[in-house]
Amino acid sequence: MKKTISLILIAFLSISFSGLKAETIRLDQLDVSKGTTGWPNHPTQVNKSIEGNPLTMKGKVYQYGVGAHAPNRFDIKVNGATRFSCVVGIDDEVRPAPTNEGIAGYNIIQVKNGVETIVKSGVIASTDESVVEIDVDITGWDFISLETTESNGNNWSDHVDWCDAVFEYTGEAPFTVYYDEMIPKFHCMFNHFSLPNTRMMHRYKTLNPKDVIHVENLPAGLTFNPQRNIVEGKLPAGKYSYTVIATTTDGSTITKEATIDVRSNLISPTPLMGWMSWNVYEGDITEEIIKKTADAVVEKGLLAAGYNYIAIDDLWHGSARDANGYLDCNYSKFPSGMKALVDYVHDKGLKIGIYSDAATRTCAGAIGSLGYEEKDAEQYAKWGFDFLKYDYCFAPTDQATAIERYTKMGDALKATGRDFYYLICEWGERKPWEWASAAGGHSWRTTLDSRDTWDHGRYDTEHCGVVQAIDIMRDLAYYSGPNHFNDADMLMTGLYGTGKSSSHDGANGMTNREYQAQFSMWSIFASPLIVAFDVTTMNDETKRILTNPEVIAINQDKMGLQAECIYNTNQIEVYAKDLENGDVAVAFLNRKSTAAQIEIGLDKLFLEGSHIVRDLWAHEDVMTVSDKISATVQSHEVKLYRVRPAGTSTEELNETDKSIKIMQDKNRLLIQFTDFQNDTKQVQLLDISGKTLMTKSCNEKTASFDTSNLSKGVYLVKATTGDLSITEKHIIN
Ligand code: GLA
Repeated sequence: MKKTISLILIAFLSISFSGLKAETIRLDQLDVSKGTTGWPNHPTQVNKSIEGNPLTMKGKVYQYGVGAHAPNRFDIKVNGATRFSCVVGIDDEVRPAPTNEGIAGYNIIQVKNGVETIVKSGVIASTDESVVEIDVDITGWDFISLETTESNGNNWSDHVDWCDAVFEYTGEAPFTVYYDEMIPKFHCMFNHFSLPNTRMMHRYKTLNPKDVIHVENLPAGLTFNPQRNIVEGKLPAGKYSYTVIATTTDGSTITKEATIDVRSNLISPTPLMGWMSWNVYEGDITEEIIKKTADAVVEKGLLAAGYNYIAIDDLWHGSARDANGYLDCNYSKFPSGMKALVDYVHDKGLKIGIYSDAATRTCAGAIGSLGYEEKDAEQYAKWGFDFLKYDYCFAPTDQATAIERYTKMGDALKATGRDFYYLICEWGERKPWEWASAAGGHSWRTTLDSRDTWDHGRYDTEHCGVVQAIDIMRDLAYYSGPNHFNDADMLMTGLYGTGKSSSHDGANGMTNREYQAQFSMWSIFASPLIVAFDVTTMNDETKRILTNPEVIAINQDKMGLQAECIYNTNQIEVYAKDLENGDVAVAFLNRKSTAAQIEIGLDKLFLEGSHIVRDLWAHEDVMTVSDKISATVQSHEVKLYRVRPAGTSTEELNETDKSIKIMQDKNRLLIQFTDFQNDTKQVQLLDISGKTLMTKSCNEKTASFDTSNLSKGVYLVKATTGDLSITEKHIIN
């Protein structure tokens, strides 16, 4: 009897449960402001097209839906919902769209256990005869993502409508989330480099700020600061590792192994500084131009300020490989051949770079390196090059092939046994910050080609102005450090609209204030500082900007951090960068067309007590503050500050830090060791080929070489103590 009652009860319960009618909720009833659209300043529209018209596709007007612009994405927590249906297409407001416009890809993505799987995809075009109908069973999914993409290389006229978009659910309704809240994921790098006994700082974050991060197995010498999620300290030369763990909001953990490679012979402990030929000359490069640029870089004080690379960009190439597969230069441009040019540039105390592409052709159509990586690397090494920029035109769009091709060339460069700086140039399209360092890269372009303009107006597939590059760099701060930097592309300073490619599309140059702002931002971003103008005609204003030692010191700081954006509202941005000696560099950026008052609390810089604020463009201490820094900033101006504790001077702080300085006066090279007590010290004078001419051991703070009997030329001075070793070039005239 008892059994019969239970059976009846079960039957009744299951009838009544299956009889519960699922409820429905439409996409336009959710918070769609969390969705993204690919048209800046045009947020998603509820029950309207992206331009505010009635939602209309193929002549039919839809009462309910969301107007967006590709590339766009909505991420929705399914929350037990079972079914999603909608129609998607291009709004009639763009009809007839110009050829190759109004075409987008669409994806319906399942997210389950942190894994994204595309379950439906295709292309929608304004020329389609009907809309695409979607109807998917989403039972058991964690999230559903609705996405549109640029399928035809541009997003022009991609006005996307998601209409009659309905979820069926029982219980609590689904809701939109930010992408960051969906998949537990770190948003930072884990392979670190450092010079020995130099302060380092590793910053960690996940996409969801609510996740909790901690570290385990830290080597002695490093500590973890849970308030800031940073590991910091100093280590002697060696290889180290430790574990980073994030506990996500749902209680699961993600674990990563961090590695640290500490050595004195890093190729790029600080961002590269130099000159590159493309923007100003494009294909009109010649031996004479490179030589006169090298002369000017030395004579006009750019080398002394730190610009020590000259790089030849595209179109140096001969027209065919030889029978053995080697490629020579174009002799009508470089009549003495590459070796002679490389020697000339080296004799000036400069390093020299060359260019190729990870495909059969370069961007401008010369011969690329695909399939000839070893031969090309061997050739560059034989000529004596020190740097390769490796471009990505005519290559497949996926990330895996890019990793494979860049690693192949990275390995080929290493196999030559010569030190190469390796610049990876795939414009940030395949997230190189996640893999380019492992491929051997020392920096990677994060942006499309820069143009000589403040605001290029659109985020298209080819070019960007200063603010577009800043918008991309802003989010990448935790992917930069010694020996591997985000590269925001060449500086426009000095061009004044006279460049070639940099002035395409009417980019007619900027004001000195804007050039100074770009230089300030690239400096605090720890981006390579690569100029691209005719140095022989450099004016005083350009020289003042490019050689400001206090600003360059921010860029060249040995901790190698990229500044983090700590305030970003209404076209006002504030950035902060921790410096090796404990000072903090701060940039106030005003993107508005009018002046603005900007302020930031010292607490946002993790500083307490009284601090002196030095204006690095005015070269003076401008305020002593204990609560906040504030200033009026002109339109398109950057105020760049160095903040240090009150009662100190920068010199005093340096005195307490270990350092080696090499100075030159008329008849002497003077080497000064600070704070090494009784460590054994050795100094060597070498010729440019690396042959030792003189060696001295010393236990004192200083050592010197008499240079009065040396013939004119470039010499190397190497100073070593403990794990620290530096080599500098000096010109004896
Ligand atoms: C690409 C690169 C540029 C330049 C040109 C040369 O566009 O991004 O920096 O090297 O190729 O063709």
